[in-house]
Amino acid sequence: MQSESIESCKRFIREKILQPAEFRGFEEQRTNLLNLMERAVWDHDSNSALLIGPAGCGKTTLVRSVLKELAEKKDFAKKALVINLNGLIHTDDRLSLKSMCKQMSLENVVDERVTGNFADNMALILSSLQNSDQKKALIFILEEMDLFCNHHNQSLLYNLFDLAHKNESAVFVLGVTLRLDVMDRMEKRVRSRFSYRSIYLLPVHDAVDFESRIGLCRSWLFIDTSCFNRTLCKAWNKHINKLLDENEAAYNCIKRLYDMQNNEESTKELLLHAISRLGEDNTTLSGQDFEEALQDVISDGWLQILDGLSTLEICLVIAMKQLGEVYQGDPVNFEMVYSRYLKFAKNHSSFEDCNRNTVIKAFEHLQALEIILPVTGHGAKTQSQYQLYHFQLSAQQVKSAVKRFEELPTEVQQWAELNLL
Ligand SMILES: Nc1ncnc2c1ncn2[C@@H]1O[C@H](COP(=O)(O)OP(=O)(O)OP(=O)(O)O)[C@@H](O)[C@H]1O
Ligand SMILES: [Mg+2]
Repeated sequence: MQSESIESCKRFIREKILQPAEFRGFEEQRTNLLNLMERAVWDHDSNSALLIGPAGCGKTTLVRSVLKELAEKKDFAKKALVINLNGLIHTDDRLSLKSMCKQMSLENVVDERVTGNFADNMALILSSLQNSDQKKALIFILEEMDLFCNHHNQSLLYNLFDLAHKNESAVFVLGVTLRLDVMDRMEKRVRSRFSYRSIYLLPVHDAVDFESRIGLCRSWLFIDTSCFNRTLCKAWNKHINKLLDENEAAYNCIKRLYDMQNNEESTKELLLHAISRLGEDNTTLSGQDFEEALQDVISDGWLQILDGLSTLEICLVIAMKQLGEVYQGDPVNFEMVYSRYLKFAKNHSSFEDCNRNTVIKAFEHLQALEIILPVTGHGAKTQSQYQLYHFQLSAQQVKSAVKRFEELPTEVQQWAELNLL
């Protein structure tokens, strides 16, 4: 294949893979969600629900597909307003409120001058909406919903669920999350306003499903006559069929990734990495391209960051992992981490340097790397050593980082392996 053709072939496949997909499967869950939204919009029947499923299983695609279908119905735009919030962006209630107002075109109602509590502001927003000529049903989509549980008093969640619970105005609140334990994270008063309706997107994992994944790979990697001449299409698609049906290495890479993280997102990522290897000198995909692509996909970005830490910093990471085990994942502050580290360091002569300022510097570096993230929205400013942080790494990641750390003192290795439970 000529280099020009291979470049356009790469571009064509990449665009196909990255294109937003039509939602497939999970018909029952889709109908369920569609009905709930329809009832809110056309029957003014408020409700709330959670959409739960592992990363990349299609939650966002499902919501988009349902909203697209609704948008095509007559009068939807007149009768409903969709408000999108995302826990990663709207990290406290004030930001959430601002974004809500913007999406409702009510920026002038709640502006910087209004300092009342969340419920007051919410009431203000609703009354302005009610006074407008056209009462619209409000559909709130809360992506990364579990992160809203970290907001001060969970006011936003409480007020939204309360609105849906009271059913005075048509409201539908959908929380989208990958955390199965999200209900445990809700405060009791929030839970009591929630409908307890959960829609689960749990991917199946079997031979039939895997074969359909191979079928998807085929459809992504094929080229067609809309952009290429017939001879080229025939030759390329024949090559793809041979690759997927007969090349053991390529097949095994797709299977391994499927077994590790059964989501389409990661299969797409694997194919993108594989086709990025195509070029003038490499005009066909080989098993080796897939093997290298698999390495790229499964190499953990965190591990590369952790490779750059100092011994003191890795000690703090270990201390935080242990605190996470003791306090079951609750946030930690500097004092807790420092005292855990001191306990260890005092018992080991090689760790004489326990200077508080040095440890503070190391702790700040971990924060800059976002290995720890501050818990926000606690009103009055806390002294920095008592500021709470969420630790972002899993026990497995810490274990791998310790293993990879060259010349880590033996006592630190042993301390890392300590099982506290
Ligand atoms: N059932 C499905 N139908 C169509 N596409 C899907 C489906 N499941 C996953 N995908 C594809 O997988 C990718 C990830 O999907 P999506 O972003 O909807 O997942 P998610 O569950 O929202 O993930 P996250 O938890 O990371 O937000 C998208 O490219 C999407 O096209
Ligand atoms: Mg999503």
